[in-house]
Amino acid sequence: MLIELPKHSEVFGSVKIHELQKVLKLESNKVIAPLIRGFSREELRDVFSRMAIVVPVKDERLHLLDGVMRSIPEDCTIVVVSNSRREEQDVFKLECDMISNFHKISKQNVAIVHQKDPGLSLAFQEVGYKCILDKNGVVRDGKGEGMVIGVLLAKMLGCDYVGFVDADNYIPCSVNEYVTIYAGVLSLSETPYSMVRLHWRYKPKVMEDRLYFRKWGRVSEITNKYINMLLSINTGFETLIVRTGNAGEHAMTMKLAEIMEFSTGYSIEPYQIIYLLEEFWDGNTRFKDALSSGISIYQVETINPHVHEEKGEGHIKDMLLASLSVIYHSKLANEDLREKIFEELRNHEVVKSKREIRKVTRLPPICDIDVNKFRSVFERYTETFVCLR
Ligand code: GDP
Ligand code: CO
Repeated sequence: MLIELPKHSEVFGSVKIHELQKVLKLESNKVIAPLIRGFSREELRDVFSRMAIVVPVKDERLHLLDGVMRSIPEDCTIVVVSNSRREEQDVFKLECDMISNFHKISKQNVAIVHQKDPGLSLAFQEVGYKCILDKNGVVRDGKGEGMVIGVLLAKMLGCDYVGFVDADNYIPCSVNEYVTIYAGVLSLSETPYSMVRLHWRYKPKVMEDRLYFRKWGRVSEITNKYINMLLSINTGFETLIVRTGNAGEHAMTMKLAEIMEFSTGYSIEPYQIIYLLEEFWDGNTRFKDALSSGISIYQVETINPHVHEEKGEGHIKDMLLASLSVIYHSKLANEDLREKIFEELRNHEVVKSKREIRKVTRLPPICDIDVNKFRSVFERYTETFVCLR
């Protein structure tokens, strides 16, 4: 892969945000130059072999999940966290069968677990990570909850990097590009605490009888605007650096994933930026190593467009509310910004009053979890975990 290097970046406390980089070519030899970097297959394979790709899935079409799995580079470990239906038609079982066939043919490392596995619930209970459980003591629904499980499994499997790709992707090959970007960019980082977030240029839609390549993300534009405003009011310098507030797909070093907070639903991705800024702006953090090493956020524009399952207008409003509420409730926001966010949400008929802008639930960093204890309870009581190596 040949990729532009960021020419410009901005620093907020210990957090460095790099400007958007473009992928120039999918294949390349090793190139080291001032403005571009080419990664050879061998270089990338080395990183893939230390990377887990977490695929959260809930009742998606099986052949979409299948396509995604087949497009993940073979040296990566795949971790599927499923919250699919088990009653009546057992979708989870279909996923397990598909995965086991996939492993038979490809020999790729792959693990799968169901989000409601009693082993997970008991293990979380045992290590005191109860915030992920519902009132019946079972892991709650939610993609964020699934992601935390995925990170924990990746950590147990000894991976140094963890990336995420959704299962509802209609262009399987785009997943190959995403993971290649993850590996290349994370291997460039000068700090062990780094993340890469993807940006899409187009979101194709079928209009009458042809494909129309509409620019990506109405909600994204709005989220980016307010995250940038948050930065501007705290530094006194206007900025447009953030382009990936709603980056659906992203990857991190395990060291960063361990200290990361995950929120829930559509707020997960914007909250990651807000959390890092809050935690590392003023030096008042318990993560001293990350504070001194610094945190790097890379943003990369892909060649492939993004086409996923369309889930309707309601979902756009939910996404806007969830994204803006994490900015609204940030301790870095001021009254003026909160007023602007409220106006924005009201203009889009998302809320009528400020009370409707609720705080989102957050899942604390997994570094506080005793992994050995977690593992022993989990392995003893799990009913769904399969790890094919
Ligand atoms: P969007 O792309 O942001 O609109 O959100 P999606 O509804 O497509 O969800 C993103 C990914 O998370 C998809 O692969 C979903 O199947 C998956 N997902 C959604 N809800 C859950 C859940 O409760 N648990 C898990 N493990 N995955 C989920
Ligand atoms: Co989707």
